[in-house]
Order: sequence, then C-alpha cells, then structure tokens
Amino acid sequence: MDLTTRQFKRLSEIVYHECGINLHDGKKQLLQSRLDKRLRSTGIKSVKEYLKVLENDQRELINFLDAVSTNHTYFFRESHHFKYLTKDHMNIWCAASSSGEEPYSLAIYCLEKGFKPSIIASDISTRMLRMGQNGIYSIEKAKNLPPDILRKYFQKGTNSWNNHVRVKNEIRQMVTFKRYNLISDPIPSQKYDIIFCRNVFIYFDNETKSNVAHKLHNALKAPGCLIIGGAESLNTISHPFKYVQPSIYNKVLPV
Ligand SMILES: C[S@@+](CC[C@H](N)C(=O)[O-])C[C@H]1O[C@@H](n2cnc3c(N)ncnc32)[C@H](O)[C@@H]1O
Repeated sequence: MDLTTRQFKRLSEIVYHECGINLHDGKKQLLQSRLDKRLRSTGIKSVKEYLKVLENDQRELINFLDAVSTNHTYFFRESHHFKYLTKDHMNIWCAASSSGEEPYSLAIYCLEKGFKPSIIASDISTRMLRMGQNGIYSIEKAKNLPPDILRKYFQKGTNSWNNHVRVKNEIRQMVTFKRYNLISDPIPSQKYDIIFCRNVFIYFDNETKSNVAHKLHNALKAPGCLIIGGAESLNTISHPFKYVQPSIYNKVLPV
C-alpha cells in the first residue's frame, strides 16, 4: 500500500514525537516497508485505519516504534572506549542498549579487569530488551569474539539451539534490562558513575540531542563520564559537559 505524502508526514511526526528520530524524505521507502510488516501482522487493511489504531492503542504504538528503529549493534563495538571504565564505575547505565551485546561486552570487560559493576541496560524497543534479557545470540554474532572469551563467558547451544550461544548466568546477572525512552521518560532517580549512550544521538536533531544530553548530565554523579558513539558529536549543541576528546564528555564537580 503506497503511503501518501500526508500519511508519511503524519507517521514521521509520530516517530519524532515519541522517540526523537527524524525520518526525512529519504526514509520514505524504509518507513513504507516497516509499515507493510505491521499491516500484515495486525491484519489492518489500510494506512488510514492503522493511523487511527496508532493514535489510540499504546501497545501497537510500541510495536510500530520497534519496527521503525534501527537496532544494529555487535559485541565489543568501539571497544577502545572501554578503557575509560575503572573500578570507580560500579554503577553503569548503558542507554540505547539494543539487543544486549553492548552491556554484556561491558560486563565481560569489567570482569576481565577484576571488578563487578551493576549495569542498567535500557532501550525504547521492548523486542530488543527481550532479546537482551534472553542473552541468546546466533553463532554468527559471536564469531569475532576471542575464543577464550567465548569459552569463558558463553555456553554453546545444543539440539535446536545448535547454532546459538548464550551469555552465562554470571554475566546476565550483572545486567538489568528495562524500557527507557530517552525523549519522554523522566530523569532516573538513581545516579550513575558512567553512561554509555552510543549510536543513538545520530538519529536525533539538535534540539533533541541537547535535551537528551541535559537529561544524561542530570543522571550522572560528579565527577562522571558520558560516552557517545564515534560517529557522533555534541559540538553542534549547547550542553553542560566538559569535552575530553571525541566521544568522551565529563561531568565535573561544581567549583
Ligand atoms: C543503532 S542502535 C545502538 C546500539 C548500541 N548502543 C551500540 O552502539 O551498538 C540504536 C538503539 O537506540 C534505540 N533508540 C532509538 N530511539 C530511542 C529513544 N528515544 N530512547 C531509547 N532508545 C532509543 C533503538 O531502539 C536502538 O536499539
């Protein structure tokens, strides 16, 4: 079913309002194909009818946001950032954690360095959070892990799970998954020593980036550190952090 310009605009507005992701005109094809999937699984026959459902049904809204978000991630992505983790970082927030590879990589790194922090892993996508909670990945996703890490921290699946690995219990217990929308949820009451919020700022416009940066600043202890993705930068927005080097921003003690 072809989207009209008006329908595309309305759906983009919903996505922007709910999760801050900016779907410009070039994303029409992508939105169309993700929407087609939702129409097939809900059995809804027209975009007009689907729009009405979206406006009234919170569960379908969550499914729709799940379908349009980009969840690409992998184990030990941009792992040169991990050297900023120290024994002082016992409370870690991994915001926008997708399917769990990032928080599990952080947990493994810390254990290898001899400390065991607790990690909150959050995302807007309930589908990704479920995957993270299960901690089960295809062999393909684990193939670049060093063999000793694979042996130490993953179990091999058997029978129908033959081509899968599962993150061992000891690691899974270090990570708590919960839904958190960076745009609309309130500042968490807990304060964190360090926050990883990587490869999600890239989808936000400057106003949204600035709001999220302020929110993350409020969620950090001072001193504390925010780490963003290598392709991202906060230098086009106003924010309260002290820039350290690309991707690394500090919250400093008030003078
Ligand atoms: C490309 S993945 C990045 C995953 C991981 N941080 C990494 O660097 O590999 C972006 C993630 O951001 C999540 N996301 C998008 N908008 C969000 C929002 N408003 N609040 C929380 N998470 C969001 C998506 O669901 C997706 O899982």
